[in-house]
Amino acid sequence: MDFSNKLIAWYLDNKRFLPWRETKDPYHIWLSEIILQQTRVVQGLPYFEAFKQAYPTIFDLANAQENDVLLLWQGLGYYSRARNLHGTAKKIAYELQGRFPTTYTELLTLKGVGEYTAAAIASLAFDEVVPVVDGNVFRVLARIYGITSDISSQRTKKEFQQLAATLISQKEPALFNQAIMDFGAIQCTPKGVNCTPCPFITTCVAYQTNQIDKLPVKLSKVKVKNRYLDFLIFLDAANNTLIEQRTQKDIWQNLYQFPVIDRFENTSPNLEEYLQTTFADYEILQLERLTEEVIIHQLSHQKLHIHFWLIKTNSDARISTPWHELNKFGFPIVIHNFIQSINV
Ligand code: ADE
Repeated sequence: MDFSNKLIAWYLDNKRFLPWRETKDPYHIWLSEIILQQTRVVQGLPYFEAFKQAYPTIFDLANAQENDVLLLWQGLGYYSRARNLHGTAKKIAYELQGRFPTTYTELLTLKGVGEYTAAAIASLAFDEVVPVVDGNVFRVLARIYGITSDISSQRTKKEFQQLAATLISQKEPALFNQAIMDFGAIQCTPKGVNCTPCPFITTCVAYQTNQIDKLPVKLSKVKVKNRYLDFLIFLDAANNTLIEQRTQKDIWQNLYQFPVIDRFENTSPNLEEYLQTTFADYEILQLERLTEEVIIHQLSHQKLHIHFWLIKTNSDARISTPWHELNKFGFPIVIHNFIQSINV
């Protein structure tokens, strides 16, 4: 049996039931693929159902308010995915009259749709013969074929794409792509692999040469920056607070937050100076740090060190958001969780 038949046979015995596999509707397939970028299937499932329910068609999503889309996305991280999802829905609904692009090349022109996602949608929704290649596929092919190239380089990606293009089933590209995704997720896992039931055990180079834990090879590591954030929770006597939207091209773009002292150096926040310059006209009745321990929040390229402060103050036109209405705004998950955890 060749690679593709063996893989598909394994898939038919082991596949996961996933709701986006029960449809050929490109809207639902696209939605699932955007959610699954950088998100595990178990985490993405409830979001997929929630989006389908809130926005049954691409027109419903296109007509939504961005804040509502971000609110529904809360907890998934990488919020640019949600903004691109919304922008692309508008483009398809209004500029393309609701007609979803049908080919890999056309799909690539959509914002938020890269090579993997375009290949997934083109194959799963339209049966185009184009292989998906991501970290899972690197791992599976690197091990079975004993490829030692560094997977962080672009050239290696091309090498894997070319190999995958020779392996993909010409008749069943959708089945093949689903199969390789599940094979990477269930059988050929990053760590602690049990190779006994693997259908490729007799030919897998990594298994035969005892290199399962060494492949794939990844040389470059992402450099992570430390960042220090002190969020200021203003509160007046009527439990109104002050929030602002992050508009800069930065982490959490378009989400809401409390005013913040934000820096890349590990210095203590100069609260007095900040309050005097930015909130000079406020009468500070009470100032208290709410977090005993620093909260660490890890993003892909930044490690955030976070504290929250409570500042009781006099009423002011700017302090105008009732605390109980905070759930109407999309916050970064670390702020959302903190809001939930305190009694105001
Ligand atoms: N990861 C990315 N896309 C996926 C899909 N369609 N099914 C399962 N896992 C995935």
